Amino acid sequence: MLDQTAGLVRNAFVEIEGVEVVYAGSTQALKTTDLAFADDSVTVLLGPSGAGKSTLLRVLNHLVRPTRGRVSVRDIGALETNRALRDHRRQTGMIFQQHQLIGRLTALQNVLLGRIGHYSFLRSLFPLPDSERRWALDCLARVGLFEKALERCDALSGGQQQRVGIARAIAQRPKLVLADEPVASLDPASSDRVLSLLRDICRQDRIPAIISLHQLDYARTYADRIVGLSQGAIVFDGPPSDLDSDSLARIYGPSA
Ligand SMILES: Nc1ncnc2c1ncn2[C@@H]1O[C@H](COP(=O)(O)OP(=O)(O)O)[C@@H](O)[C@H]1O
Ligand SMILES: [Mg+2]
Repeated sequence: MLDQTAGLVRNAFVEIEGVEVVYAGSTQALKTTDLAFADDSVTVLLGPSGAGKSTLLRVLNHLVRPTRGRVSVRDIGALETNRALRDHRRQTGMIFQQHQLIGRLTALQNVLLGRIGHYSFLRSLFPLPDSERRWALDCLARVGLFEKALERCDALSGGQQQRVGIARAIAQRPKLVLADEPVASLDPASSDRVLSLLRDICRQDRIPAIISLHQLDYARTYADRIVGLSQGAIVFDGPPSDLDSDSLARIYGPSA
C-alpha cells in the first residue's frame, strides 16, 4: 500500500513539495522537503528540540507559511487561495501541547467551541442545537470524560484536559489530525492514556494523524510511521521496526 521511496506515498491525503521554511532572522527551520501522508496511518515526527517538528506540522495547515514550495490536500488542491485554506483548516483537528482550553468554561463548552468554525458568525451567537450538544457529549464519552462534561476545565488534571483537547478536535469530524507534542507536559501514565486514545480513535475513524514527539519510546509504541528530523532535515522515514542505532544517531546525534 505504501511506497515511501523519496517521500512518495501513493494515495496521499496531504502532500508537501519543495517546502522550505526560513523564519525572520534567517533561521532555516525546515530544509527543502518533499513528503506525503497516507490515509489512516499514525505518523510521528520525531526529533530533539529545535529539529523542526513544530514547523513541519504547522506548515501542513499554514499556521507557518512555507517560504518556498507548496502543500496540497486531497479534494482541495494546493493551499494557495483563502478558500482552500479555510476549507482545509475546517477539516483539520489540531491538538496542542498546552491544549489551549478555556479554563473557566466546562469541558462540554470547550468541545462545543471547537464546532463553532462550522457555523457562520451570526449563527454562532445563538445557542447550538441539541444535536450538537449530544455530539459533543459523545466525543467526551469516547475519551472517557462523559462524567466530567459539566466540570470546569481548570478543575481537571493535565491528562484529562488533554483528553478534552482530543474530544474538541474530533468533534470537528476532522479528516486530518495534527498534534504538536500533545504529551510534553504529562506524566508517563497520562501520556500513555492520551496517546493510545488518540491512536485508537484515529484508526477507528480512519483519520490520518501526524503527531510530533520528542520521546523515542512513545514514537516506537504509537507510530505506524516515523519521520525523523534533525536540524530541519528529514533523516529517517519508515516504520518503527526500521529505527536502528544508525538512524537514531542521525536523529539525535552520535551520542544517542
Ligand atoms: N517563530 C519563530 N521565529 C524564529 N525562529 C523560530 C520560530 N519558531 C521556531 N524557530 C526556530 O526554528 C527551528 C525549529 O524549531 P521548531 O520547529 O519549533 O522545532 P521543534 O518543534 O522540533 O522543537 C529552531 O531553531 C527554532 O529556534
Ligand atoms: Mg515543537
